[in-house]
This record gives sequence, structure tokens and C-alpha cells, in this order.
Amino acid sequence: MKQLISAEEIQSAVGKLGLQLAADYQGCPLTVLGVLTGSIVFLADLIRTIEMPLNVGLLQASSYHGRSTTSGELTINADLLPEIAGRDVLLVDDILDTGKTMQSLVETLQGHSPKSVRSAALLWKEERTVTDIQPDYHCFKIPNEFVVGYGMDFDGQYRHLPAVSALDDAELKPLS
Ligand code: IMP
Ligand code: MG
Repeated sequence: MKQLISAEEIQSAVGKLGLQLAADYQGCPLTVLGVLTGSIVFLADLIRTIEMPLNVGLLQASSYHGRSTTSGELTINADLLPEIAGRDVLLVDDILDTGKTMQSLVETLQGHSPKSVRSAALLWKEERTVTDIQPDYHCFKIPNEFVVGYGMDFDGQYRHLPAVSALDDAELKPLS
């Protein structure tokens, strides 16, 4: 496993993003929505750096099993979604890869009549993005490598690691 971004670098970038968001959304009724499960660590850190009143909610998107991030239908579960009509919504995810997840989520949320929807991703694999969507906010661009830690998993493992690391090919075999 090769560390790409240290815990300190992450905390510093998340703090800067929080300041930017507080400035951009000043006086607006903001709802921050985390995408389960990969965003949980980023969401928890980010919301504590946004110094303004806000609501927090969750929704679930699953398309990815093990290594693959593109195969299969995306399933969106909005059962946990709070009321967002008339509110500014910030969708928070761990990583924007092809962009398909974020694009579908934005489309789903538009059906709930929010005032606005923007996206924030900790990581952006820009060279893999195939949709028109770009994250409105991101902390780091990374190359096309499979990464784990800071909420991100491989086969359900590694989410608790405080840094972001790339797995090598030998580590990308299913764990069991
Ligand atoms: P997209 O729809 O291709 O943009 O995929 C985004 C989702 O795939 C993210 O929410 C992650 O859950 C997952 N994903 C993409 N790349 C990685 C990775 O390198 N490590 C872990 N999860 C990833
Ligand atoms: Mg995800």
C-alpha cells in the first residue's frame, strides 16, 4: 500500500474547504448530504469546519462491488433524505471517478425541488470522468489508481485508515 495523501494534508484541505463553503453559503439554508458509505469520514470532518447553521442528511448509492466502479446499475436509496425543498444542497462524496454516481444523485435530488444542488468530493480522478459533471468543490485530484482509507474501502476493508493510500495489484485481489 502506497500512501498518496497524509492525514495532515487531508485535515488541512478539509479545513480550507469548510472556510470556502461557509463564505459561499453565508445566510443560505444549507443541507449537507453525505453519500453512504464512503463519505462518512469526510462528511464528519467537513461539517465541523463549516461555521454556519446547517442540516445534515444521508443517502445511499451503490454501484460498486469490490474493485469495479463502473459495472452494474446504480441503486439510490433516498429513505434517509431530509426535506430539501427550497434549500441549498451540498452533496458530499469520497471520490468522483466516472462521475456517474454524482450525476444520478444530482438528477434524483432535482426531483425534490431544492433551491440549488452542488457537489463536493474529497478526491477527483479527473482522467476517468466520462460524464459532463465536474465536482463544484474538490480537495485533491488523483491519478487513476484504486485508493482506500479515509472512508474508502476495498471489499469492505480499510475505511478506518486516516490517510489515503493506493493499493497495488497484489492487494486488489478479493479478501476473504
Ligand atoms: P463513479 O460513479 O464512477 O464516479 O464512482 C464513484 C463511487 O465509486 C464513489 O462513491 C466510490 O464509492 C467508488 N470508488 C471509485 N473509485 C474508488 C476508489 O479508488 N476506491 C474506493 N472507492 C472508489
Ligand atoms: Mg461511494
